[in-house]
Amino acid sequence: MTPAAGTRLVVMLSGRGSNFAALHAASEKPWFNAHIAGVVSDRPQAAGLALARSHGLDTVSVDRQTHADREDFEASLCAAIDGFEPDYIVLAGFMRVLSADFVQRYAGRMINIHPSLLPAYRGLHTHQRVLEAGDRKHGASVHFVTPTLDGGPVLSQVRIEVKPDDTPDSLAERLLAHEHRLICASVALLARVPVEVRHEDIVIDSLRLASPLVLGRDFDEHGHHTGPGQPGQ
Ligand code: GAR
Repeated sequence: MTPAAGTRLVVMLSGRGSNFAALHAASEKPWFNAHIAGVVSDRPQAAGLALARSHGLDTVSVDRQTHADREDFEASLCAAIDGFEPDYIVLAGFMRVLSADFVQRYAGRMINIHPSLLPAYRGLHTHQRVLEAGDRKHGASVHFVTPTLDGGPVLSQVRIEVKPDDTPDSLAERLLAHEHRLICASVALLARVPVEVRHEDIVIDSLRLASPLVLGRDFDEHGHHTGPGQPGQ
């Protein structure tokens, strides 16, 4: 995808919307170079949807309960998304599994933030599973969405230390602030450089990404490359 001034985003969420709020705050900064064209939720009561409306953003709620089946529901989701003509779709706490057809439609244009260092801990309860395994490191990942749940190529990660007295809640809370930094920096990067997904590879500025970009090491809070690896500026 060629970056354009004012890359258009659709944010999809199911819950409180703190990652959305971080993106919205970033969208008011000049370095971000992207804006939220619309917010789409599968839950009419989602706090994040109310928050988006309070910011004056266009929102669409697509309630699964009022649709006969998944195909019908996803057709409405597609209509909502396509109506905003997004360059990228950002799943920010969107908690519904999407069909392969749906995901294919937005191949290379849909990213998700997941609270683990993928490929470790796909799925739910990541913080608890990290603690149960005795891991010393935890983190979050931004990946391109493919039909495999939490299995698409990973663009970027942020890493944090697990503390001896951490609980699932304390770990989740501490990581969340870093998720906000990661999602904003990752979207800023996508808005700045051409990024393509070819099969399981991410290609940035014509170079294959050998491993996920680590926030604070390979790229900074504004999505600028800072490390010795890829991509170019
Ligand atoms: C975030 O922690 C996000 O990583 C997670 O849901 C939370 C949403 O919080 N997403 C997933 O677990 C997706 N598999 P938010 O609504 O405050 O942004």
